Amino acid sequence: MFVHQHLQVHPLKRKMKLIFKTTFFYLLLFCVTKTLGINIQSVPEVNSEGVVQVELKKTVSMVCRPDGGSETEADEELVWLRNGALVALKEGNKKGGSSVCVTPVVHEDNEATFTCYLSRNDTFRASVTLNVTFGPQLSGSEEVTVEKEAELVLRCDIWANPPVSSVSWTLNGSKVDLLAGGFSVTNDAFTSQLKTSSVEDSLHEGTYQCTAHFPMHGEHSKLFHVTATEKTLKFPLMPMIAAVVVLCFTALLAIVSRWDKITKCCN
Ligand SMILES: *[C@@H]1O[C@H](CO)[C@@H](O)[C@H](O)[C@H]1NC(C)=O
Ligand SMILES: *[C@@H]1O[C@H](CO)[C@@H](O)[C@H](O)[C@H]1NC(C)=O
Ligand SMILES: *[C@@H]1O[C@H](CO)[C@@H](O)[C@H](O)[C@H]1NC(C)=O
Repeated sequence: MFVHQHLQVHPLKRKMKLIFKTTFFYLLLFCVTKTLGINIQSVPEVNSEGVVQVELKKTVSMVCRPDGGSETEADEELVWLRNGALVALKEGNKKGGSSVCVTPVVHEDNEATFTCYLSRNDTFRASVTLNVTFGPQLSGSEEVTVEKEAELVLRCDIWANPPVSSVSWTLNGSKVDLLAGGFSVTNDAFTSQLKTSSVEDSLHEGTYQCTAHFPMHGEHSKLFHVTATEKTLKFPLMPMIAAVVVLCFTALLAIVSRWDKITKCCN
């Protein structure tokens, strides 16, 4: 009936109708969040996706409260879970409002979910998930010596959150020629690895650099000064031991067989 009446009316009235509609919508939304009954406030703040973004080694503090804050709700006992496991709370930190503090934030807290609900009824719960941001351990320089014809492996730590967006390798300042040097590059979430199976001094000696770009932590790089040394002859240990054993055994046999003579000699 209401809609019918205003179907083709003054634009102002239509506008008012729109305002009325949106107000009603927000009123509805308000009621919904109200009836959810529980809310978590956090420093740093929870975003619209229920995620708290925090830097490694910093602190997150969260407070859980029943919505409304009426007399009965102030007496309600609250429960906290971290990834589904009960968080031990001190007496006096359970009723009306309950706070949990994570300090310092560690790597393992990344993607940890904290949930809070009323201990008498877990139907209404509130949750937040931590997003722990951290930069890579990528800097400095390293002296690397490698024998000719041996394998050369260089590794750079690129583990970070948000993750690396690109990695590049240079040799003496220009992009590593993978084909010419017989190189392969493999990257995972933790490391970027440059590898070649047989070192030749003319091809592989020099200064290498890995450079990585991170969305939040900028550019980081590390140097490697690689020198090739002459091949050392690997001592064939096992055959040598076998030879020594055989030699001793023969000598022993010889001594035993000549024992008579030897003892005579000694007399
Ligand atoms: C929890 O509250 C909801 C909504 O008020 C209700 O439907 C449900 O029966 C309650 N559960 C318990 C175990 O009291
Ligand atoms: C964590 O925060 C960073 C920085 O804002 C963002 O790029 C990344 O997508 C977030 N990760 C998750 C799982 O929300
Ligand atoms: C890189 O530079 C060093 C020092 O100038 C040089 O000895 C080496 O041969 C160079 N490496 C390559 C692959 O050109």
